[in-house]
Amino acid sequence: MASTHGAEVLLASNRGPVSYEVREDGSLNARRGGGGLVSGLSAIGPEAGAVWVCAALSDADREAARRFEGGRRLPSEATGGQRVRMLDIDPDVFSDAYNGIANSVLWFVHHMLYQTPLEPVFDAEFRRRWASYEAYNRAFAQALAEEAAEGAAVIVQDYHLTLVPGMLRDFRPDVRIGHFSHTPWAPVDYFRMLPDDIAEQVLRGMLGADRLGFLTRRWADAFADCCDALVGGLGGTRTGVHGLGADAEFLRERSHRADVFERMAALREEIGAAPDGGARKTIVRVDRTELSKNIVRGLLAYRQLLEERPQWRERVVHLAFAYPSRQDLAVYREYTAEVRRVAEEINERYGTAGWRPVVLHVRDDFARSLAAYRIADVALVNPIRDGMNLVAKEVPVVSDSGCALVLSREAGAYAELGDDAVVVNPYDVVGTAEALHEALGMGGAERVERTKRLAAAATALPPAQWFLEQLEELRA
Ligand code: G6P
Repeated sequence: MASTHGAEVLLASNRGPVSYEVREDGSLNARRGGGGLVSGLSAIGPEAGAVWVCAALSDADREAARRFEGGRRLPSEATGGQRVRMLDIDPDVFSDAYNGIANSVLWFVHHMLYQTPLEPVFDAEFRRRWASYEAYNRAFAQALAEEAAEGAAVIVQDYHLTLVPGMLRDFRPDVRIGHFSHTPWAPVDYFRMLPDDIAEQVLRGMLGADRLGFLTRRWADAFADCCDALVGGLGGTRTGVHGLGADAEFLRERSHRADVFERMAALREEIGAAPDGGARKTIVRVDRTELSKNIVRGLLAYRQLLEERPQWRERVVHLAFAYPSRQDLAVYREYTAEVRRVAEEINERYGTAGWRPVVLHVRDDFARSLAAYRIADVALVNPIRDGMNLVAKEVPVVSDSGCALVLSREAGAYAELGDDAVVVNPYDVVGTAEALHEALGMGGAERVERTKRLAAAATALPPAQWFLEQLEELRA
């Protein structure tokens, strides 16, 4: 199946670097995405002829795939020169795989999100969806097998595509296969909630790879524990840790553009000044509204702070940016509603004519996020579990005059940033309120020093090196 002029480097991920929307006149508008993979892949240069295989995520994406040789050749101006193959997977199969399995089962397992007295329930409906997940993984494996040159390096991303390494190995024993997990890996006792055959299939699928990458040692060890307990070990598969860092160069440049300055002015308006004219402090959080981000407990901790430490009333504003994510799923929509409800409750309870204690924004605006990073006194990053958490790494890089970081010990970033953060147990609302108090009171000089060290640790492995490192290890 190897193509004679196939690619030497291939990347596979559910979400690709481009998405489409249909304009009113029926033409297609392409939007390019950002993120670690985009800058990572650009580091190897266009001459490498890398191919990125991704799924069509919407009707407009599927339309684009159909118009451009079944998704084989998207116009390069839309993709920034990157060769992208977008898979036109049946929408029902895609939805079962993405919403039904990846986001509702595998995401829940790795982030330990189930309310176990009642869920999960692995019934016949689950089995039906699992068959779709297999079909969706197979579509990726087939496309990769077609596109790869003899001996090519293929790097597969994340829990959406756990079966791809094993399937691709069967199609193309000649290629080198890597897989990278951007999430935590579940501890073995939690992982084995999955039906035995499914748990084994996931592990064996992953072990089809030559090398598996994780964001921290903790997640790599958890994976190895699962393999020891359920499939007799890692076999010949190597594992490695690559702690994806922030892209300092990009962030510093981007955060000094005019739109960010405009947003800073607008945020200062919203924050306002204390009745005596003194400046207000700001506690900033920026998240995609995923169930693992712990936004509700963050708000409860802020409420506790206002209750127990009344000296902060009128003197602090919590900027909470909770951007919508996976709104096809009812639990995610309900969670977003709960975030709004608690924010409003705090504003009703404590707000005054001139002070809104919580400023909640739910419309995604990257320039505004950067503006908030620049002016934050305190950043709150309190996930119940998180593969890494790049917000924790971006804030210290962008901060104008030093920002205290309140950080969950359950975020992957804790491994690298824990020493200079105010560390919290994410379930402990009283403890988090105390941490906020401590962070708000941190002296200017200490804040600046800590922020410098945090920024250094946060940028130790920028996306380009992160990607190259994996590629080298895979080829070694
Ligand atoms: C989070 C995770 C990634 C994952 C991504 C998918 O950011 O950390 O591991 O790939 O979500 O998000 P999506 O919006 O495509 O469902």
